[in-house]
Amino acid sequence: MSTPTAPTAATRSAAPAAHAAHAATVTAGRTAAPAATPMTTEAGVRRLLAAAGQAPSVLNTQPWRFDVVRHAFVELLADPDRRLRVSDPRGRSQHVSCGAALFNLRLAVRAAGFRPVVWLLPGGQDEPHLLAAVRAAEAPGGRPGGRELYDLIWRRRTNREPFSAEPVPPDVLAALRIAASREGANLVLLDRPGAEEVLDQAATADDELARDRDYQAELAAWTMPGPLRDGRGPSPYEPRRDGRGPSPYEPRRDGLPPSLYEPRHDGLPPYVRGPRPAGEPAPVRSFGRRGGRARFERHPQIAVLTTPGDRPVDWLRAGQALQRMLLVAALHGVSASFLNQPLDLRDMRGRRDPRHRRGHPQMIIRLGYGPYVARALRRPVRDLEISHV
Ligand SMILES: Cc1cc2nc3c(=O)[nH]c(=O)nc-3n(C[C@H](O)[C@H](O)[C@H](O)COP(=O)(O)O)c2cc1C
Repeated sequence: MSTPTAPTAATRSAAPAAHAAHAATVTAGRTAAPAATPMTTEAGVRRLLAAAGQAPSVLNTQPWRFDVVRHAFVELLADPDRRLRVSDPRGRSQHVSCGAALFNLRLAVRAAGFRPVVWLLPGGQDEPHLLAAVRAAEAPGGRPGGRELYDLIWRRRTNREPFSAEPVPPDVLAALRIAASREGANLVLLDRPGAEEVLDQAATADDELARDRDYQAELAAWTMPGPLRDGRGPSPYEPRRDGRGPSPYEPRRDGLPPSLYEPRHDGLPPYVRGPRPAGEPAPVRSFGRRGGRARFERHPQIAVLTTPGDRPVDWLRAGQALQRMLLVAALHGVSASFLNQPLDLRDMRGRRDPRHRRGHPQMIIRLGYGPYVARALRRPVRDLEISHV
């Protein structure tokens, strides 16, 4: 296998030199036939993208696209049509989501028996949508590891149900902290007063967002209002036929049975939204919840994922750290949900973080032991790849 003069660390950062190396290798691929890797066959590429596409993403927007270049690289791109323009004006949440997809892609390269070599932001400022390029290099000894986490990619899910009162033990919390730090982020575990303060901030943010019409319109476009897929009767919505609007659904005007609807493969379906909390402040985010109220755990375990900087490269690292941490959590049977509304509000209002001793907050996470929950659907793999025909 030809080896490019390229960075070898899996998360080497953005640099014009890295881009030059990436571009040089892409060019070299035009003359030399690439050695067999998961990127040289259709089935191999499908497996990589299937894993990447299972990543968590803000409102399940799945805001990524992939380009397989000369069978040598998979490029990860931000999909501008899937960025939340109101609640994510900087594209921060989009980068975090794409970082999580990148981590899955790395695991899938390993599961195929190769070592991922990653360039973050290889296009620099000229190509801000090009978030990463990944190559599959030979693994020393042919045993790249990471299989355990790879298998959990399909089992992990966001859990917005009440958790039990059982605390997450210190050794498991330590494993989660290590997982985040391996990707260059910091998982700050809050004590009880710290958690209460963050829950109050989340409740205040919810109130402010409830009065923001643009935010509500955007949220409505990505959250299906009807019980479309939980088998409780027909939805008041049907797929759009005119191709317009951010939502593929519009109010229905006829009596088509729901079995004839195309299921939606993105956005937050009602069946994953969890019940309405009986008490205040709520430890889960309000997305227009399912009916009924439920008692949540009295003392939620809250953690904040932070990064030393607050630029696109940091957001991509946060996403990789988030996904590694969530998969390690799944390995230990620990569930997670998120309360990012204070961070969205900060971004929407153009506020800057005060100088945080422990870094810039990128995700607010609730950890614990929850019941089995269903998973939000994903787009089919064929929709993820940029087609060149
Ligand atoms: C950057 C980011 C922000 C998120 N913010 C929230 C949030 O504030 N509240 C929440 O309940 N889920 C949040 N999520 C979780 C997504 O809604 C979830 O990943 C998506 O619906 C796919 O479902 P899954 O995680 O079960 O696969 C967030 C995920 C990401 C990556």
